[in-house]
Amino acid sequence: MKNNSLLGVFLLCCLTGVALAAEVSGKRLAAADGEPGNWLAHGRNYGEERYSPLRAINVDTVDKLGLAWSFKYPLDRVVEATPIVVDGVLYTTGAYSMVFALDARTGQLLWDYDPQVWRGYQGRGCCDAANRGVAVWGDKVYVGVYDGRLEALDSKTGELVWSVNTLIDAERNYTISGAPRVVNGKVIIGNGGAEFGVRGYITAYDAETGKQAWRFFTVPGDPAAGDESETITMIRKTWFGDQYWKQGGGGTVWDSMAYDPTLNLLYIGVGNGSLWNYKLRSQARGDNLFVSSIVALNPDTGKYVWHYQTTPGDAWDFTATQHIIVTTLDIDGKPRRVVMQAPKNGFFYVLDAATGEFVSAGKFGEVTWAKGIDPQTGRPILDREAADYWTDSDPKTVFPGSQGAHNWPPMSFNPQTGLVYIPQQVTMEYFVPLESPSTVQTGVPNLGLEIPIVPETLEGIEELAQVYRGNLVAWDPVRQEARWKQPYEHIHNSGTLSTAGNLVFQGTADGRVVAYAADSGKRLWERSVSSGVVAGPMTYAVDGEQYLAFNVGWGGAFPITFGALAYRTGVVPDSRLYVFKLGGKAPMPPVRRRELQPPSPPPVTADAAALAEGKSLYNNHCGVCHGLSALGSDIIPDLRYLAPRQHEEFLPIVFGARSHKGMPPFGAILEPAQVEQVHQYIISRSHDWRQELLKRSTQREQATR
Ligand code: HEC
Repeated sequence: MKNNSLLGVFLLCCLTGVALAAEVSGKRLAAADGEPGNWLAHGRNYGEERYSPLRAINVDTVDKLGLAWSFKYPLDRVVEATPIVVDGVLYTTGAYSMVFALDARTGQLLWDYDPQVWRGYQGRGCCDAANRGVAVWGDKVYVGVYDGRLEALDSKTGELVWSVNTLIDAERNYTISGAPRVVNGKVIIGNGGAEFGVRGYITAYDAETGKQAWRFFTVPGDPAAGDESETITMIRKTWFGDQYWKQGGGGTVWDSMAYDPTLNLLYIGVGNGSLWNYKLRSQARGDNLFVSSIVALNPDTGKYVWHYQTTPGDAWDFTATQHIIVTTLDIDGKPRRVVMQAPKNGFFYVLDAATGEFVSAGKFGEVTWAKGIDPQTGRPILDREAADYWTDSDPKTVFPGSQGAHNWPPMSFNPQTGLVYIPQQVTMEYFVPLESPSTVQTGVPNLGLEIPIVPETLEGIEELAQVYRGNLVAWDPVRQEARWKQPYEHIHNSGTLSTAGNLVFQGTADGRVVAYAADSGKRLWERSVSSGVVAGPMTYAVDGEQYLAFNVGWGGAFPITFGALAYRTGVVPDSRLYVFKLGGKAPMPPVRRRELQPPSPPPVTADAAALAEGKSLYNNHCGVCHGLSALGSDIIPDLRYLAPRQHEEFLPIVFGARSHKGMPPFGAILEPAQVEQVHQYIISRSHDWRQELLKRSTQREQATR
């Protein structure tokens, strides 16, 4: 497809009269609101408000939205990218960090780029082969590649210009899913991996050459190697024992960054501690800086300026990597430059952008771990009885769970309504601590806790589903209270977009795209799409016409690991970019939903003890991708649905026959007899499921008679 690229650019510039894309610069980015037709950076402007001044699509016209064009991704896997539009060209990414440049009016492919990530590398990340999009600067497009590369492409042709390896240790399980940001000529990228035991950091590279400019570690490393800076010496005092640096410590910067050009401060969102278990990680002592913090840095030097820790001594996977917005709010009658975040822990924070001073916080989610935030100190008031699973090694159910009260799907801020639109959700976690930590291994999660327990029966699932609900929450950040809510049956709905047309857009886990009035929350427009929606929607204009883009493609940690709940959405993997406009007439792609009855499985031959062994092996080695308790949402195959031939090929597949397609080889980890135990457990789960579905439909029939 690449051969067409030059021709595509030629057509774009010369036949249609559009000027060749001007280069993106710091000046343009700082004044992004003056270019309403473009969406130049991840969150549209440096403050990442995700608010568009465009208003042709508005509360009065929104019902005239129709499809302008759609683009089918080559892989039907997770799509988390927010597209970027520069002067009529749309840049986006799909699974495994593949990059696409499209004509923003027609969807015609101009070029594509596949960084050729080894598919088996997916097993070294927690959360699917996700990528949240590119950055554009000068004449280049930047992508963070899943296996740890940062690459620069020619924005006109997609040719690789430079590629650097951002990893400090190839043996550790580092991945990149976040979008790079470019500030003052430097491309900045972090990474993920804290579920497997890594040390967090971010790195800045010269945008032109790829030469490393600076690196900022978020947690201290091996003391014998010496502290990299005074900041590391400062934060080391908040850690105890020696496990923290052996296990990595965590604090990965895997998603959010924002920038304030006037203050020249870069804000980064820092992730959870690694191990999750606070006692095994740091003897249950100390704040463990900078886990679960927002940190402000000088983007030119990477030097620390201030920090605010949302969850001191995090023990619950409460990342503060969720979307950061920098804006001006009217506080006590005066305009104040602030940083806002709704991290996993369930509290909405407003901080002073210049100093990090705590301004206010409010509970936007279901929270049991803390009673509130002390307004004097800005520290949470821990509910020890509810949250402490380590002191007596007493398992605890804590709200929110590791999926968070809000996860990475970005929120948006509408300066007209003064409201923040949060993809909120109710989640919980059952923490069962381990006595001692395991060692770091390739592709094996390492939490210092037992792998989460998921019910196996339909009844148990439905009980759990009563708890796990989503909401679109319109939050007043000044008064710290909800203005309105729209409920969803499922969690893991998409990011939000707000516009000057008094609209909020959001996609849903069950495969819909929806528009609401921004002020009242009234639902105004809705369409069904080919898969679940998680990415943040965006809008742009070309030749005076406004477009609305939704990246559609279900995936991420929730659908692959928690299939027990995620399957209920009924969506299938079918990844596409949908672009709507007023009066759009393109036909909508077909919408399929999942068939629930599994094919007839072979008989179970194992005894109860072997099945129990198979279950434990399955949950430890397979559940993270195929779903815990062998309940999958079929984004990665639901193994209860194997066809007869796949049952015959079970052992070769598990030993590596499909490693080129992302099924990791287990030959070095499992014995053939163990694989058979896993196989038997899966077969038994398939029988159970068929029985339960049958029972359910008989009950329904009897009820309607
Ligand atoms: C890192 C994620 C990951 C883990 C962990 C994993 N798998 Fe897979 N598996 C995949 C993917 C992706 C595929 C689909 C490959 C393809 O497209 O053919 C797959 C396919 C399979 C298939 C073939 C299914 C089909 O419909 O063709 C079997 C069988 C299977 N896996 C068994 C297992 C077992 C057993 C384990 C644990 C011992 C396991 N897998 C662990 C990702 C994973």
